[in-house]
Amino acid sequence: MNMVKCIDIKKHFPIRRGYLKGAAGFLKALDGVSIEIEKGKTLGLVGESGCGKTTLGKIILGIIKPDSGRVELETNKLQVIFQDPHNSLDPKMRVKDILSEGLILNKESKERIGGKIKDALDLVRLPQNALARYPHQFSGGERQRIAIARAVLTEPELVVCDEPVSSLDITIQLQILELLKDIQKRFSMTYLFISHDLRVVRHMAEDIAVMQHGRIVEKGPTRKVYSEPSHPYTKILLSSVLGIIK
Ligand SMILES: Nc1ncnc2c1ncn2[C@@H]1O[C@H](COP(=O)(O)OP(=O)(O)O)[C@@H](O)[C@H]1O
Ligand SMILES: [Mg+2]
Repeated sequence: MNMVKCIDIKKHFPIRRGYLKGAAGFLKALDGVSIEIEKGKTLGLVGESGCGKTTLGKIILGIIKPDSGRVELETNKLQVIFQDPHNSLDPKMRVKDILSEGLILNKESKERIGGKIKDALDLVRLPQNALARYPHQFSGGERQRIAIARAVLTEPELVVCDEPVSSLDITIQLQILELLKDIQKRFSMTYLFISHDLRVVRHMAEDIAVMQHGRIVEKGPTRKVYSEPSHPYTKILLSSVLGIIK
């Protein structure tokens, strides 16, 4: 069963010549994209910077509207984890308030919220004394753990992970990827995992979609695409990244 189905999504952005001059043309950020994500699975979306990955993620999340095409979702419980937790966490809020924000909106009792936050910190392996601290008092990896805890607290069924480890050191990347995997298994969540890094995607995703200039040029089971890439662009991506470590 599919959790997400995108059908022929198009999104063009006007290219402006200058202030008040109108559009000089259109940038085809998404030029007819169709993907499916099976429930409980991870689809890895890879491609160079600027190829349209984040735009597709935002359209699935409903943050921006496509010009044409359709998104079919099996859930309305969506969450997102961004690349840079420094920008996505309010620097003026304590972790306790960052984590409880969404729950307070749900009008849950104080005790219940306290218990849930405690469990969420355990889940992402942060100490309870993190609650009284501010985001800048944590390392990049720890901040990403806070962002993950905040996302999980809302009990999402679909999570768009947009380059979630791209700003972290390689050893920290692995820890965060393992955490995301554990959490996915435990709560049967579905992931759209966006990354420009093919090694990261191989680690995370059962299926992969390769994007170039707003189009999906190849998709299929990760193992198959990595061992027998059929599109020239996939071959180039793989040889430039995986060639070194194979
Ligand atoms: N709001 C916007 N207005 C104009 N152009 C945009 C906007 N958002 C993205 N773009 C352009 O669309 C293309 C795809 O961007 P994006 O989806 O962020 O790519 P990726 O996440 O793969 O790096 C890029 O050329 C980007 O500059
Ligand atoms: Mg992006």
